Amino acid sequence: MTQRLGIIGYPIGHSISPIFQQAGLDHLGIDATYEKWEVTPEGVGDFVAGLRAPGTLGINITVPHKQAVIPFLDEVDEWATAAGAVNTIVNHDGHLTGHNTDGPGFLRALLVETGYDPSCTRALILGAGGAARGILLALVRGGVDSLVIANRTLERAETLAQLSSDNGVGSEAISLSGDALTEAAASANLIVNCTTMGMSHGPDEHGSPISAAQIPATAIVNDVVYTPLLTPILKEAAAAGATALGGLHMLVYQGVLSFQMWTGVDAPVDVMLAAATAEMTSRGA
Ligand SMILES: NC(=O)c1ccc[n+]([C@@H]2O[C@H](COP(=O)([O-])OP(=O)(O)OC[C@H]3O[C@@H](n4cnc5c(N)ncnc54)[C@H](OP(=O)(O)O)[C@@H]3O)[C@@H](O)[C@H]2O)c1
Repeated sequence: MTQRLGIIGYPIGHSISPIFQQAGLDHLGIDATYEKWEVTPEGVGDFVAGLRAPGTLGINITVPHKQAVIPFLDEVDEWATAAGAVNTIVNHDGHLTGHNTDGPGFLRALLVETGYDPSCTRALILGAGGAARGILLALVRGGVDSLVIANRTLERAETLAQLSSDNGVGSEAISLSGDALTEAAASANLIVNCTTMGMSHGPDEHGSPISAAQIPATAIVNDVVYTPLLTPILKEAAAAGATALGGLHMLVYQGVLSFQMWTGVDAPVDVMLAAATAEMTSRGA
């Protein structure tokens, strides 16, 4: 029997998960199809209940349903509990477990692609929205030494700094401009852009939250934005001689970890990354 996988969201048309997940399944000869389903907020409970059927391996969940699925699950793992959000559901004989591979995928992408290990490092997070929160928790769980959170709206940075302190990691909240930002960047081992600056069709699609002059050559700069593939901050990082990693890697690696949970086998990362990159390129990213 062909097994069933997929992703739910609202809307869902933009998702490239079906492209790279199907490429991975086909490469390994796994008899499964990965679809995308647009599920309204009212329909989440019924949809999740239907996942208990034989032949359904599980699903990914994207915005806005990552919290909404939780009450309909039998179990939620440690990462998902810490994040307060589920991006992967695994169906095992009708028992549904919720996981969150966003944080682990972010860390895995950095480790594999740049060799970065958060322990004993200082990280600068640019932005304080949903992505920044998940990345902060991943860095905290990964053993980061200290954090600076820089955001246009200072109060939101302060909320995340408090979350960091509550989890035992010293942190500072600053504005996304001025001397404090320059100083924080100068001593950062990792700089992560979690703002929407630089995102195609976003509020400031040509903007970078930080310039080449502020980026140390020894730093790793990771943008979570992946449209376009080469974002303004990645260009600034390259000009500074720093190591630069785009957001597509994080997206694919979270999917790689989900793939392994559903199938029990190692995902063909290179195949999935190549499929995702080709799809983004064909979309003009
Ligand atoms: N690669 C991946 O797998 C992955 C995963 C998740 C998200 N993402 C991407 O991450 C980005 C952020 O997503 P999110 O869910 O965190 O969004 P969000 O919750 O809406 O947060 C947006 C952040 O961007 C800041 N911002 C927006 N416009 C700005 C501007 N003109 N100047 C300076 N700062 C500005 C906001 O600052 P204020 O607080 O001041 O408004 C806030 O910190 C999106 O591009 C999303 O696609 C990628």
